[in-house]
Amino acid sequence: MMRIIMEMMNNFHKDKILKVQQQKNFNLQKYLEDNKKLINSRLEKFLKIRYPSTIWESMRYTALLDGKRIRPVLCLESARACGGDIEIVLPTACAIEMIHAQSLIHDDLPCMDNDDLRRGKPTNHMVFGESIAVLAGDGLLSYAPQVVIQHTPNNVDRSILLQVVEELVTVAGPLGLVGGQSVDIESENKEIDLATFNYIHTHKTGKLFAFALRSGALLSNAPVEHLNILTEYAQLIGYAFQIADDILDVIGTKESLGKTPGKDKLAKKNTHPSLYGMKESINEVERLCSQAQQALVKEKLESPALIAIAGSIVQKVKK
Ligand code: IPE
Ligand code: IPE
Ligand code: MG
Ligand code: MG
Ligand code: MG
Repeated sequence: MMRIIMEMMNNFHKDKILKVQQQKNFNLQKYLEDNKKLINSRLEKFLKIRYPSTIWESMRYTALLDGKRIRPVLCLESARACGGDIEIVLPTACAIEMIHAQSLIHDDLPCMDNDDLRRGKPTNHMVFGESIAVLAGDGLLSYAPQVVIQHTPNNVDRSILLQVVEELVTVAGPLGLVGGQSVDIESENKEIDLATFNYIHTHKTGKLFAFALRSGALLSNAPVEHLNILTEYAQLIGYAFQIADDILDVIGTKESLGKTPGKDKLAKKNTHPSLYGMKESINEVERLCSQAQQALVKEKLESPALIAIAGSIVQKVKK
């Protein structure tokens, strides 16, 4: 009986998700392309090659390769949803992508996940060698907050800027992504409890998603209710995004992913599909994304893009 009720609830959510998307007649693909262009052109400027050129070339290589740019897009969209100015948030959006690129370079190293393909191209260390790849990650990690401090327009309140920079360095570091990655690596080939599993997902992926939405809102002087709802939305889709990544590691192809599938099983990673099975993992992605959409609707935060992005994470694993 309980299961039937749960299924009814799920279907109810599904109808609601579709209704919201159709109402707005929203072209997500075009929206993402336009935003990616804007982010790429700024990233290009921030990462112009200087002396010593090898390190800048290596940093640029991974940061500018064709990825989805979902985190900076979410940052810009959070600002839009809060009535903010895109010019104000662009340096932070680019910094987020730099931190993400750093995590990818280091994640692919032979001592980490040991991958030779990223964003459809050879990984950073395959092109530049391990030493420069480590330094390129270090470079992106330390340059990102510098970009925020130096390029955020002067009319932004300094206490807000300080909060943004503090949150950025926190989510990038041992209390965020670095912490999540270290537990992920330590947990390979081991049985872990649910709390540890949740820690990995929320820290290696969720924290940067949360910062993307929070920084967009903070830099737009959003009321605390909006900030809280956007944080909740981000935590939900961030978790779903990592589960979806783990699902795609099982069902995706080299061509569609631009990275090597099947790596998680090989490294005996603790992933949602390995612990709960494929069907349950897909259901979980749907449940989390639907909850994220409901949070926005409840708070009356108008953003067809945020609704559509949550929906697109589900579509990726249901195809
Ligand atoms: C991959 O992130 C790493 C995860 C945290 C799952 P993305 O799927 O956003 O990778 P790109 O940026 O599109 O290459
Ligand atoms: C992503 O986890 C964590 C990062 C912060 C990079 P994965 O190790 O599953 O990411 P992919 O699959 O290599 O992109
Ligand atoms: Mg990894
Ligand atoms: Mg990996
Ligand atoms: Mg993965």
